Amino acid sequence: MSKMVSVILAAGKGTRMKSRLPKVLHKIGGAPMLSHVLQVAKQAGASRNIVVVGYGAEQVVEFLGDQAESAVQTEQLGTGHAVLQTEPLLKDFHGTVMVICGDTPLLEAEELRKFYEAHRASAVAASVLTAVVENPSGYGRILRDSEQHVLGIVEEKDATMEQKAICEINTGIYCLESPLLFEALSKLSCNNAQGEYYLTDVLVKLIELGKTVGGVKTADFEMIMGINSRKQLAEAEGIMRRRTLDQLMENGVTIMDPASTFIDKSVVVGQDTVIYPFTWLEGTTVIGKDCQVGPNVRLTDVQVGAATNLQFTYGHECSIGEGATVGPYVHLRPQTKIGAAVKVGNFVEVKNSEIGAGSKLPHLSYIGDSDIGERVNIGCGCITVNYDGKQKHRTVIADDAFIGCNSNLLAPVTIGKGAYVGAGSTITKEVEENDLAVARAKQTNIKDWAEKYRKR
Ligand code: UD1
Ligand code: CA
Repeated sequence: MSKMVSVILAAGKGTRMKSRLPKVLHKIGGAPMLSHVLQVAKQAGASRNIVVVGYGAEQVVEFLGDQAESAVQTEQLGTGHAVLQTEPLLKDFHGTVMVICGDTPLLEAEELRKFYEAHRASAVAASVLTAVVENPSGYGRILRDSEQHVLGIVEEKDATMEQKAICEINTGIYCLESPLLFEALSKLSCNNAQGEYYLTDVLVKLIELGKTVGGVKTADFEMIMGINSRKQLAEAEGIMRRRTLDQLMENGVTIMDPASTFIDKSVVVGQDTVIYPFTWLEGTTVIGKDCQVGPNVRLTDVQVGAATNLQFTYGHECSIGEGATVGPYVHLRPQTKIGAAVKVGNFVEVKNSEIGAGSKLPHLSYIGDSDIGERVNIGCGCITVNYDGKQKHRTVIADDAFIGCNSNLLAPVTIGKGAYVGAGSTITKEVEENDLAVARAKQTNIKDWAEKYRKR
């Protein structure tokens, strides 16, 4: 069994991003570039993953957590020097090192796997993944002899006019056999236009050691697109977004207007769900089957059951049960659990509350820190008064209770099973099961008052 580990280069500052955030932590498709690269490296079969960090190392290492190992490159002296920093971690490793740049988030695992297989099959000391492009400017050019053997790679800044005309470029992805790789790396010099230790020169060093190197062409240039600027970040975002939507449509989701639909790569959507325009689905959001989502819905880390209907809604870190109807103009805040077949209507905000199955909150309410049972009806304009200026308190409403319109429930307070609260009440004391509570000033009518008033 052959073995492969990945080395992901992520020490560069990314000067052209003009950012305080390390380049590889900029997000695309809802996750940092580096996390996409790491994921495909793992899917392609890497048994270990080492990220070379430098600029913003602390932040990058913190993001990585236990997802990958890291090697620190204190000074960015070039891509060859970067790979050399992994030597202590790989000193006993015999197998293939796949080098990938941390700023190529559009890579796909299948492509890397094919490249690795081609490399293994040709039994060479190193292979470079190349692409033939119309405009090669900015990339290293692949030098081949008349029999198409790879002779080396020349950087644009070091290239002659003749070499600049070559359209086969270096994608920056390599398979290199270790420990031979480190022997070649130790022989690198920085005798070039940028004064850097180029990883590309390893190929020449290997040839000088009497080894053969190969070049494998990829047909998909889009996939190896490197992100160097915010403009390229936006371009790549568009490509990734389109890919995600295509995949969802392929799996049986209707997307009415892909141009105004934004779905993170990590989101799951069930079959026969219809996504209406201007919808954002983010993070760990999962949507069930047969739902109608949108228009104008933004869900971040929300679990949604099957056959729900959501429109004009913002929900985050909450869940919505099967068959619920939510919107328009609803805000569902963290730690909220909306039960099955619940109706949350217009201009309602729910926070840190559990709403039991079949309950209705149809209009203009604020429900915070509450436990609401099943089949409860909350009239228009009800408010749970959960905050006394110092602490939050809970409101408990048992099954089948009915809260009349425009009531205030001063927490902590409990409304018993099947109890009624008269409209306009401000409830400060417990209401027992099946009781009616009315807590408002009694109405007084003054006979013919208006007539007398007008005559004054
Ligand atoms: C590199 C290749 C070039 C190739 C191109 C593909 C070299 C010398 N050139 O050029 O042939 O066509 O990628 O995109 O390798 N990095 C470090 N430490 C360093 C320098 C760079 O970790 O000291 C990292 C960067 O963060 C980045 C990657 O290596 O993720 C590539 O570096 P970059 O400076 O972008 O190389 P290019 O000039 O694009
Ligand atoms: Ca680059």
